[in-house]
Amino acid sequence: MQKRPFIIDCDTGTDDAIAIIAALYSEEVEVKAITSVNGNVEHKYVCHNNLNLMEYLDQKVPVAKGANMPFRDNGLHANDGTHGKTGLGDLTLPEAQHSEFDPRIASQLIHDVAVEEKGELELLVIGPMTNIAIALLQYPDLPGLIKHIWFMGGAAVGGNVNTTAEFNIWVDPEAAHVVMGSGIPMTMVGLDVTLKAAMIEEDAAELRACGTRAANFVADLLDYMFRRRDMGQEDALMHDALALGAALCPDCLVCKDCYVDIECFGQYTRGHTAVDLKGRSGKKPNVSVALEIDVPMFRRWLVDAVKKSAKLGDK
Ligand code: BDR
Ligand code: CA
Repeated sequence: MQKRPFIIDCDTGTDDAIAIIAALYSEEVEVKAITSVNGNVEHKYVCHNNLNLMEYLDQKVPVAKGANMPFRDNGLHANDGTHGKTGLGDLTLPEAQHSEFDPRIASQLIHDVAVEEKGELELLVIGPMTNIAIALLQYPDLPGLIKHIWFMGGAAVGGNVNTTAEFNIWVDPEAAHVVMGSGIPMTMVGLDVTLKAAMIEEDAAELRACGTRAANFVADLLDYMFRRRDMGQEDALMHDALALGAALCPDCLVCKDCYVDIECFGQYTRGHTAVDLKGRSGKKPNVSVALEIDVPMFRRWLVDAVKKSAKLGDK
């Protein structure tokens, strides 16, 4: 089978880590690189989480550093504790001993791989869009080299940081505005669907029974999320893995083509994704927006994707 080349741009992050693992073991995907961005936790933690995870899973995937702050440094290097102090909840991975960061910064690595893949590269963007916007501004040929962007961010209705903004877009609205205007085909997987994408204890039990290192680590992350949920915080929501699900299990979502842009100025609405659901702007749709989800189908797909670590001979 011809594998689909992907780069994952992420702010790992508990749910980012699960999305990365699902991609690593999905038979139809080849993860070409992982690029790190400030977001859920400080950039330095994101970088090390990504490098440590690759070594822990014995994966030879290049890991790059990226942007350590958004375009407009508004002091919002937010860490509200959702992902713990260093990004993986209350879990820590062994420090990588034999791995080095790729010498290229995220934007350069993205462009290099896009050129190598001759228009076939897909991006899974599951953190603030700073690295992608930098790459687009640096390399004017990039839009023609990217086949599709699958991103977790935004919401047609509502927000999770405030009443109108979702975290990834809220951290760097200017970057998201650049990406929305790039002309690259893209799919938005926002809170309209991700707030419903909760895993349950049975999923963790099935992963533990699988017993690979990858499956156990995902089960550990889920257990952290269940503890967090039981303390009244966020449920075990698979925001980021659902963006991968859009690419690999498209039947679990219903999407609609809409014009989408980003509010960069509003006093109360900065970071809002303005989704023209009814076509009132008269502007041509630029984003396929996920609006409905089949939760059992998504959970089945995600558990199965991680369990493929067994087939591939993981420990
Ligand atoms: C997004 O923000 C982060 O908490 C998650 O990793 C996800 O990418 C959800 O708003
Ligand atoms: Ca994320």
